[in-house]
Amino acid sequence: MPAASSPSTSSSLRGPVGVGVIGAGNISKAYLDNLTVFPDLKVLVIADLFEDAAEARAKEYGVPGWGGPEKALYHPDVEIIVNLTIPAAHVEVATAAVNAGKHVWTEKPFSLDRESGLGLLKAADAAGMRLGTAPDTFLGAGLQTARRIIERGDIGTPLTGMTTFQTPGPESWHPNPAFLFQHGAGPLFDMGPYYLTALVQTFGSVRKVAAVGSSAKATRIIGSGPKAGEEFAVEVPTHVSA
Ligand SMILES: NC(=O)c1ccc[n+]([C@@H]2O[C@H](COP(=O)([O-])OP(=O)(O)OC[C@H]3O[C@@H](n4cnc5c(N)ncnc54)[C@H](O)[C@@H]3O)[C@@H](O)[C@H]2O)c1
Repeated sequence: MPAASSPSTSSSLRGPVGVGVIGAGNISKAYLDNLTVFPDLKVLVIADLFEDAAEARAKEYGVPGWGGPEKALYHPDVEIIVNLTIPAAHVEVATAAVNAGKHVWTEKPFSLDRESGLGLLKAADAAGMRLGTAPDTFLGAGLQTARRIIERGDIGTPLTGMTTFQTPGPESWHPNPAFLFQHGAGPLFDMGPYYLTALVQTFGSVRKVAAVGSSAKATRIIGSGPKAGEEFAVEVPTHVSA
């Protein structure tokens, strides 16, 4: 990362790195629990389309700034934008951030399709900004240990790798779950990145893909929060066979 060009700009060389969070929803609490205790980071602003939500979260964590997305994007001391918006907004928000001269950590999925993902990579490259994306779970002890023992040859050459994920769905605990059943989410895009990341980190990149999919229910009922009891339509997964 280049050194700061003006005294008002924070820098990893001079002090805590300034962070702006965009997306003040469900997962922002887990992020802020952690981001606000690392001495080398300083969360300077929390932003959301719903400025009230940003303000409430900022006050909860003692963050000095809040507002709409531009408040984080154009904050002079923010070096990294943490993108915690819904999947459909990930590329748009991350692209705006790199174009504003900010590095980006973005939640999964990185993009909803290959083309827009490549466009984001290109934009970051052109702007000289770095991109990181969830999940970082492969850095954890379990997957690092698995990788180490495979690399050391403890189990010989692995012939197969398998991951399994089973759940009735997140509508029972997520207070605003509809986006998790819309294009860009669903089990494959919302949870798949954890398992695909584990496989790719352990065995290398994917050469060939085959898939089948279907929807278990056409509608779901919210089980928590102020919208509990409300029914919403499920869009994903669409019937797939490849
Ligand atoms: N909830 C979880 O347990 C969890 C866990 C891991 C990862 N994630 C990922 O984190 C992301 C957010 O999930 P969530 O559960 O917090 O969702 P959420 O719906 O609770 O929060 C998303 C927030 O982003 C805001 N937003 C949407 N579009 C925006 C835009 N263009 N600009 C600014 N703000 C915008 C919404 O107003 C909302 O407050 C998703 O990609 C999800 O896959 C969630």
